[in-house]
Amino acid sequence: MRVLCHLNDIPDPGSKGFKSAEHSLFAVRLRGQVYVYRNSCPHLGIELNWQEDQFLDYDDSLIQCATHGALFIIENGECIAGPCIGKTLEAVDFRIDRGMISVCEPD
Ligand code: FES
Repeated sequence: MRVLCHLNDIPDPGSKGFKSAEHSLFAVRLRGQVYVYRNSCPHLGIELNWQEDQFLDYDDSLIQCATHGALFIIENGECIAGPCIGKTLEAVDFRIDRGMISVCEPD
């Protein structure tokens, strides 16, 4: 298991990125729910964010890729606008234990 952070470390709504040598992930909180995705845009396979922890659009309602502006539904990762419309972000399984978010991946 790889511990990402405590729930309270992510604003609601808001997002936070996590990088290790092998995996780049990000988590989003929205209305009390948590979503974790691999930080790889289905358009070009590059990271979505230019700025640290900035994965959402201006009103925190969609995930946005900083490179070409693709927009993704927070709840299921589906791209609804931009060059990779119809593709989805890769969801990552996670669990929350005493407020700590962990994913089933090596550290
Ligand atoms: S790399 Fe994400 S929209 Fe082009």
